Amino acid sequence: MSLLTGDRKKEATCPNVVKCPTVISMVGLPARGKTYMSKKLTRYLNWIGIKTKAFNVGEYRRAATVAYRTHDFFRADNKEAQEVRQKCAILAVEDACKFLDSGGEVAVLDATNTTRARRRLLVDLIKEKHKFKIFFVESICDDPTIIEANIVEVKVCSPDYEGMDKTSAVQDFIQRIEHYREHYEQLEHEKDNDLSYIQIFNQGERFMVHKLAGHLQSRVVYYLMNIHVLPRTIYLTRHGESEMNLLGRIGGDSGLSERGHEYASKLGKYVQEENIPNLRVWTSELVRTKQTAEFIDAPKENWKALNEIDAGICEKMTYEEIQEKYPHEFASRDQDKFHYRYPSGESYQDLVARLEPVIMELERQENVMVVCHQAVMRCLLAYFQDKSAEDLPYLRVPLHTVIKLTPVAYGCRVEFISLNIEAVNTHRDKPGDVCRKRSTAEALSTVPPHY
Ligand code: ATP
Ligand code: F6P
Repeated sequence: MSLLTGDRKKEATCPNVVKCPTVISMVGLPARGKTYMSKKLTRYLNWIGIKTKAFNVGEYRRAATVAYRTHDFFRADNKEAQEVRQKCAILAVEDACKFLDSGGEVAVLDATNTTRARRRLLVDLIKEKHKFKIFFVESICDDPTIIEANIVEVKVCSPDYEGMDKTSAVQDFIQRIEHYREHYEQLEHEKDNDLSYIQIFNQGERFMVHKLAGHLQSRVVYYLMNIHVLPRTIYLTRHGESEMNLLGRIGGDSGLSERGHEYASKLGKYVQEENIPNLRVWTSELVRTKQTAEFIDAPKENWKALNEIDAGICEKMTYEEIQEKYPHEFASRDQDKFHYRYPSGESYQDLVARLEPVIMELERQENVMVVCHQAVMRCLLAYFQDKSAEDLPYLRVPLHTVIKLTPVAYGCRVEFISLNIEAVNTHRDKPGDVCRKRSTAEALSTVPPHY
């Protein structure tokens, strides 16, 4: 999806138009989750097709200074450092605006922006000078347990503290926060009445939304209101090998092959051994995913949104038959697999739109296992791994393998766990890749479970 069309420059000069590029500016003391939210929001917006980039002012500061020494750099009376910090903030804004001027749709400005003067400067540059929209996201958190956990989780590993022991790093960071606190001015209804913003209190316990301006901002608010930071695990798996997989045919609604049933039984045991508290299992509405989840002892729900990509007129055909009967369609799909839509069917792009509510609900939940299909799983995995639209349709998601996603720092750890049951390989390589010359028959031949 593109928010910008035709006479982009003209549109971009008016912040009142619906499709105006937007700067999302973070606000808050250090260790309030600003980088965490910036990265996550950027990943989400790109996944739904909105061209987004984050600009982290800390990185500009590190590039502009020699090695960080102590929290003294952040003292309000450190005039020299103040100047460097101001310059870095302006540089980041300029780069963000350049990005929006050259086709970007959303720029996320990841900085503290804790004073009203700094925020007014941003408004002057972004709204008045460049005529882009600006939306502030402020994270307010005064729970010392949360802050200390945040410092330990991510700050002690920051390049600022390379070579410093953990305790000294924590102490230094706490003092850095105190320097910011001295001059911190929260967004306030009376003083900032003209601004659009959301305030997030104590990791999403409470929200305050002010003067939302447009669809994009509503979407951002909706997303931020759904995410949480509780530890949890998401498990993704395709259905077990199906009768149609064995025949090399796509789509349809067949049941599992013998080896597919074996996988279902092993999956049930795997889940039992993992001993996952309050696990919920989601399947599609197709027989093969329901059969795969049969032996899992947990509450199950079927989602139509998790059904496999609809191959339209090509449903139940082999790739060879499609190439023979519809050579033009086959070649078009290889040209641009993400955007290609099967006649009377769907594209990967359609699938991402269909899966958005699933992602939103996954964000809200704790432990979940999703039993789905090859194309669907590629879309879900692309969201968690921040993969581009170009790479997404070629992600390798083998049969009889559980993908375990565990949140860590700013992203998630991804583990592929093969349950060691052989299955056909349903993956078609991107044309032009090394394996291009393998025949479809070879590609569909039985492969060992570890590949
Ligand atoms: P700095 O100003 O130093 O860059 P920051 O505000 O960007 O700090 P992060 O680096 O994003 O802080 O902190 C990451 C931690 O914040 C993670 O441990 C994450 O769990 C936690 N976190 C995420 N969202 C929130 C929130 N809304 N409030 C407080 N902590 C949060
Ligand atoms: O072959 C199994 C399958 O799930 C088909 O039902 C589906 O059309 C296909 O994979 C999606 O993969 P690709 O987009 O690579 O054709």
